Amino acid sequence: MSVTVGIHDLAVATAGHTLALDALAAYNGTDPGKYRVGLGQDQMSVPGPDEDIVTMGAAAARAVLDRHGADGIRTLLLATESGVDQSKAAGVPVHALLGLPSTCRVVEFKQACYSATAALQAAAGLIARDRSERVLVIAADVARYELDSAAEATQGAGAVAMLVTADPAIAVLEHATGIHTADVDDFWRPNDSPTAVVDGKLSVEAYLDGIVRAWDDYRAHGGSPIDQIDRFCHHQPFTRMAVKAHRRLAEHVGVALDEGLIDVTTGYNRRIGNSYTASLYLALAALLDGADDLDGARVGMFSYGSGAVSEFFSLVVQPGYRSALRGAETEALLAARTPVDVARYRELHAGAALDSRFDVDTPVDSRGPFRFAGIRGRARRYAAN
Ligand code: CAA
Repeated sequence: MSVTVGIHDLAVATAGHTLALDALAAYNGTDPGKYRVGLGQDQMSVPGPDEDIVTMGAAAARAVLDRHGADGIRTLLLATESGVDQSKAAGVPVHALLGLPSTCRVVEFKQACYSATAALQAAAGLIARDRSERVLVIAADVARYELDSAAEATQGAGAVAMLVTADPAIAVLEHATGIHTADVDDFWRPNDSPTAVVDGKLSVEAYLDGIVRAWDDYRAHGGSPIDQIDRFCHHQPFTRMAVKAHRRLAEHVGVALDEGLIDVTTGYNRRIGNSYTASLYLALAALLDGADDLDGARVGMFSYGSGAVSEFFSLVVQPGYRSALRGAETEALLAARTPVDVARYRELHAGAALDSRFDVDTPVDSRGPFRFAGIRGRARRYAAN
């Protein structure tokens, strides 16, 4: 008998500072309409000196554990592009900060912005084998490009933690899925670089190619026809990209798709900016937290990670899902961020790359539950606030 698996809880975290893109536009002489309308971005979250993927991922997961406890969690999968170590999984310090039992496997998933989807599918596989297992999937990223580059306005930082279980309260993951991989140098980050290298125009084309190819594979593997998909969430490196994706999909399948339905999915990402692996799941959170009643709705999800791996899959929203949501918590987190000016943002950006050969104590800056305390003996240290 097949097991019904999906998202039982979903919590969001982001960094403690925010930069208004109008301020960035004024600084670099760009028309603010380019960012607000052309890219569909209003703000970006900016990490303080004591924040990174571990602190954000642990903060999101703390909220999940506070509600559901840790019983049955034997796997923690942390998906990220912005890993903090070449060897040790970032989920290991998260596991320690959360006080999870030692009887838990922890591993990091990497493939640019796509890997959270691979983690979700892996979680579903583990639960299909043993329906009593609950898997903690964390997507956490800091999107960092070079200062003064065209990509600068598409930075951001955020995390989503998902509790994946049998008989979930929020959304069931459907079996059909469509995948596509192509070796493309559209965006990557060499081992010696704190910022991503990107060919912006190629990346947009590779993403749009990915959606049609993943869609075709989804249909070839029993995925629902387009008229049976009620809502769509697309990966949002900048929210206007979701509109481009939707248009390309509509053109490909030869039907008119309502672009207005995409708007609600952009609510958090417009303010957080790109959060790479977390971005698609922030789009899902915004959709679920929106005003529409989605009981029983099928949501088409498009996940894209440069390099490039694409996946189109679908979720079915469960009756009563609203009682499992956290919209007010997410709004409060966004509102609690400290606005910074361009000078402070540039300082934080420049100070982010630490040389592990030098011990350092980071200043206490964040107000989240956990902080990056500094480097000792080349290892990163974390603490509870
Ligand atoms: N008012 C309104 N709109 C304006 C405007 C104004 N005053 N000025 C310009 N625009 C519009 C442009 O017409 C353009 O619209 P279209 O895309 O519809 O043509 C839009 O604003 C952007 O303008 P440009 O194309 O001139 O922007 P750019 O070349 O300076 O940079 C970018 C855009 C290439 C996306 C760049 O921000 C970038 O490289 N970003 C990082 C890469 C990225 O996010 N790629 C997305 C796909 S890859 C992926 O998804 C993985 C991932 O997360 C990184």
